Amino acid sequence: MSIDWAALRGAATAVAARAHAPYSGLQVGAAGLDDSGTMVTGCNVENASYGLTLCAECGLVSAQHAAGAGPLVAVSVVAADGAPLVPCGRCRQLLLEAGGPELLLDADGGPRRLGDLLPAAFTDTDLARRSVPKSQSAPEAQSALESKNGSDA
Ligand code: THU
Repeated sequence: MSIDWAALRGAATAVAARAHAPYSGLQVGAAGLDDSGTMVTGCNVENASYGLTLCAECGLVSAQHAAGAGPLVAVSVVAADGAPLVPCGRCRQLLLEAGGPELLLDADGGPRRLGDLLPAAFTDTDLARRSVPKSQSAPEAQSALESKNGSDA
């Protein structure tokens, strides 16, 4: 699939203008293409309780699911000036699950693989391999719950 990076960056720049960023003053827009060419966008939304800020990529991934879109193959994240902005660490992790390591991210020197920007990532594979079945976890908590509820559960 050929990617029109100029159009993707243009869409990201347009949505950056609708960001709600009165606290940092950094308006961010994100636009992504799924594996069948559907475009989704998102912008950052800040809050007076600073820690509640939603990055533009959060809006993008929410829009991906809301639209019933498939895995993202290309994403452009820009500030209001239209220049690419490298996603923060948390959003690299978010994008990894939205597209995988082959997802291409718009960057100044040309598109970059997400896998190169987030090497050795934690994924659902680690979760499946390393998590302890609930029946075997925290025995004290389990027995405390059982005595409180008076059940064997
Ligand atoms: N921001 C994003 O939207 N995406 C990023 O990847 C980096 C940071 C936003 C969050 C906050 O509203 C503002 O930029 C300043 O950190």
